[in-house]
Amino acid sequence: MTTKKRVAILISGRGSNMAALIEAAKASDYPAEIVGVFSNKDAAPGLDFARARGIAVASLSHKNFASRELFDAEVERILQTWNADFVCLAGYMRIFSNAFAERWTGRMLNIHPSLLPRHKGLHPQQQALDAGDSESGCTVHWVTPELDAGPTILQRRVPILPGDTADTLAERILVEEHIAYPQALAMLARGEVALDRSI
Ligand code: GAR
Repeated sequence: MTTKKRVAILISGRGSNMAALIEAAKASDYPAEIVGVFSNKDAAPGLDFARARGIAVASLSHKNFASRELFDAEVERILQTWNADFVCLAGYMRIFSNAFAERWTGRMLNIHPSLLPRHKGLHPQQQALDAGDSESGCTVHWVTPELDAGPTILQRRVPILPGDTADTLAERILVEEHIAYPQALAMLARGEVALDRSI
């Protein structure tokens, strides 16, 4: 088969979406390989999972950098050492400098636990409950400089059930996230989707 695309994953915590991507990429016919995992938190549990599977890991605290631009420049340097073709954000809770976002636009995906454009930003599951929605889900989308606003690649839906809390809803959505993200990355790596910059 053709060469696998080289993918770096950026995390801030648990890393269950990262784990789903790593597991999917084990398949010999999966079109991407995970070449490195970066975290902006040194203690992110996801780093241990990746390290234990022989994947390169790196972490940096933004507190050691004078500006967002300088921090992102160092992240960029790490991505270059891994020779990454694409970046997947997986619970990466840090806003990018414009320069970084622009550089990776069209080559960077994010997953968000809501049916975007509904409920951008923090606590989207609680936002969905507060809005009285009858369904929610997850969205894999292109990352553009505006937060949670890039075009959608795919969504999976779940019902909101009576008695749901933000936690029970998050758990139901997470199951779908772990299916959606590997599917979306495979589509990207096979060249089946591309960002239309005119919209
Ligand atoms: C996931 O639900 C992901 O969609 C969400 O954070 C969680 C990370 O979990 N991301 C965002 O809210 C981004 N705006 P994970 O670390 O287990 O993948």
